[in-house]
This record gives sequence, structure tokens and C-alpha cells, in this order.
Amino acid sequence: MRRATWRRIVPVLLITLAAGAQAQRPGDPGRWDYQNSCASCHGARGRGDGPLLRHLVTPPSDLSMLAQRNGGVFPRERLVMLIDGRAAADIGPHGSREMPVWGSTYVERFTQAGGSPPLAEGAAHRRILDLVDHLERLQR
Ligand code: HEC
Repeated sequence: MRRATWRRIVPVLLITLAAGAQAQRPGDPGRWDYQNSCASCHGARGRGDGPLLRHLVTPPSDLSMLAQRNGGVFPRERLVMLIDGRAAADIGPHGSREMPVWGSTYVERFTQAGGSPPLAEGAAHRRILDLVDHLERLQR
């Protein structure tokens, strides 16, 4: 993504994240994380129509069609890798990495919130699994 584009997106993203951080973390953490970290680009129902759409060079994927586009099978393992992003130097549409690398973001957030570093990997992974569960519920 071009630098200028990021300069426009980052402030919007920070405001979105700050607003999210104040919200209560309810019983459905995958949904909560999705609404706070993903919906701004991918849309509340995952249809690729979030409010940041017009600032992006590549349109965010329609996350409600993941199973349909994969022959009716929800591609769970691949999504965990894609969302984590750290191993995905060049996998599929994320090769360009227009979207944030959530694996490192969640590890950092965990330790910044006072979590013990040896537990950070597990916590980040758990969060990504919860997100993928939520994505599965968005399929149509
Ligand atoms: C800054 C905007 C932005 C945010 C925030 C964002 N994404 Fe994305 N995402 C994109 C874009 C753009 C693409 C498609 C192009 C690319 O891969 O870089 C994409 C692609 C994806 C894909 C690949 C789908 C496919 O077609 O295989 C998945 C899965 C995904 N995002 C999940 C998420 C999840 C989960 C979150 C929240 C934790 C999130 N995204 C947050 C912009 C974003």
C-alpha cells in the first residue's frame, strides 16, 4: 500500500481502536474483536463494505463468501495463517499485506496490557481462533 494512503487510514484506525478499547469485552470475544478491529474495512457483516473502503487501494475481501469461494468448505487453517500474517510472507491475496499483521499486534497488546510474555503467543493464537469462529458465522 502506498504511504500516503496509510497516512490517511492510520488516524481513522486509531480512533476506531480507541473507541473499541473503551467498550466492554463481552461474552463473545471473536465478535467483539471483529467489530473493533476488522469491521472498519471488511464491514459489520464481512461483506467488504466497511467505512474505510474508500481509502483503500485494494478493496477488502468479502469475508462472508470464504466458504463459498472454497468449494463450500470453510478454510479454517488457511484463515488462521492469513489473519496471524507473520508466516504469510506471500500467501494468496495477503501477499501484498494491505491489511495489518494481527499476530504481532495481539502479542504486543497482550504484553502491553501487563500479560506475561511467555503466555503472549497462546493468547494471540486464542484470539485469532475466536475471530475465525466469528468469520465462520458470517458465511452465507
Ligand atoms: C486496514 C483495513 C483492514 C483491516 C482493519 C482488516 N483487513 Fe482484512 N483485508 C484487507 C484488505 C485490503 C484485504 C485484501 C487485500 C489484501 O489481502 O491485502 C484483506 C483481506 C483479508 C482476508 C483474506 C480473505 C481472502 O480473500 O482470502 C482475511 C481472512 C481478512 N482480511 C481478515 C481480516 C480480519 C479477521 C481482520 C480483523 C482482525 C481484518 N481482516 C482487518 C484490509 C483490512
